[in-house]
Order: sequence, then C-alpha cells, then structure tokens
Amino acid sequence: MSEMIRLDKFLADMSAGTRSQAKELISKGKVRLNGNIVKDASVKLNKNTDIVEIEGVKTKYCEYEYYMLNKPAGVVSATEDKNDRTVLDLLTTKARKDLFPVGRLDKDTEGLLIITNDGELSHMLLSPKKHVNKTYYVETDIYIDESMSRLLENGVDIGDAKPTMRAGVKVINQKNNDKAFYDSEKNVSLITLTEGRFHQVKRMYQAVGAKVIYLKRISMGGLKLDERLKSGEYRPLTDEEIQLLKKIR
Ligand code: URA
Repeated sequence: MSEMIRLDKFLADMSAGTRSQAKELISKGKVRLNGNIVKDASVKLNKNTDIVEIEGVKTKYCEYEYYMLNKPAGVVSATEDKNDRTVLDLLTTKARKDLFPVGRLDKDTEGLLIITNDGELSHMLLSPKKHVNKTYYVETDIYIDESMSRLLENGVDIGDAKPTMRAGVKVINQKNNDKAFYDSEKNVSLITLTEGRFHQVKRMYQAVGAKVIYLKRISMGGLKLDERLKSGEYRPLTDEEIQLLKKIR
C-alpha cells in the first residue's frame, strides 16, 4: 500500500470533516506540514513519517482501527439511523470516520461487537464459509432441559430453507453454577453458533419452545468480551487480539 497521501485526504480520513472542509482548513492556513503552513490541499505527504498539525494539534495517521464494544440494549448496530442511537455514536474517541460494526446484534441484544474499518477482516469474520464461532449467553423463560439442548445442538427448523447447523449448548444449571457471573435464579444457557442468520438465537430457542428474555454475545472468533467493560463501554483491541482474529483469514 502506498505511503503517500494527499493532504486533504489525510485530514478527511482523520475525521477533520469532509474533504471540502479539510480543503478549507488548509486554505485558511490552519494546517502545518513538517512545521510549515501549507495551503495547497493537493500536496502529497508520507502518511507514516511526515508530521501534520491540524490547528496546532499533531495528528498521526491511522490506517485501521479495531475496537471491542460491550453493546448496550437500545442502540442499533448500524453506522447511522434516523430514529435510534447507533453503536458508532458510543465511540467518542475514534480517529477514523469510516468505522462500521462487524455484523449485527439486535437492538435489544448486548455484548461483544467488533468495530473496525478493516473490510477484509470483517468479510472473513462474517463469511458463511469460515464458520466463525460466536458464543451467546442466553436467559430463557423456561429451563433448557436435556432434550431441548440436544435439539439445539443437532440443528432445528427455524423456517429457513435449511435447518440450523450443529451448535454447542451448555446449560448452566443451579447445581454447577459456581461462577458469580451466572445468577442461579435464572434459566441460563450458553450457545455457540458457526453461522449468523437473522435473529438466529431467538428463533432457535423459539423452535424448541423457549423464549429468549435476555441475550448477550460473549465471544466471536476466539475473541472474548472483556468483562471489565461495562455496558456501553469500549476499548481498542490489543495487537494480540487483532492477530488472533486475523488468523481466521
Ligand atoms: N441471534 C439473535 O437472535 N439476535 C442477535 O442479536 C444475535 C444472534
């Protein structure tokens, strides 16, 4: 990938407005390149080594960003929405403005959502051919017994052309509930899917006669939701976490 980039594109990529707003900043003398005011928006610079200051603030170029968000209920997994707050509205410290969520969680679903501008990685994580594992913490209105578990594991008819693929189900019953994370008063199970159909978890449980009353994704492609993140909080992925996801390629 080329190291060289136009000054106005550098600014626009780094969230300094649109390309024309970037041009205006430049023509007003508010941008310095290696210490000198530059008024030509078409000047090319090395995005890794040249130093850009926008209104006095040194700005590093960032090609890709990767975040994990603990999505709260009530926000939509989209980049923009007429009626609702989006997951991107929660990212207040992002450098890039071309970020998007990797796949979708329903508005009322919580938990792990990867947000990036790396289209290739996103494609890999979502490709039906890659069978990337996604694990969900599920609370249901009724106890998920052995026979329901087996049905969920073996695949159920949820009204699509094909039944669901094999899944992993772990029922967290009251006796072996030794982790504070799980509230023993509730009917909790964990389900691991390798596909990502519309409302898949809710429809699968419905197919075995249970209603999902709370749903949270806790891992995707080996990446676990950081339990220190409160609902609505996010953090950048570490280099190790990014490499872990890239192994899927
Ligand atoms: N399955 C669902 O039903 N909803 C989600 O948000 C994710 C998986």
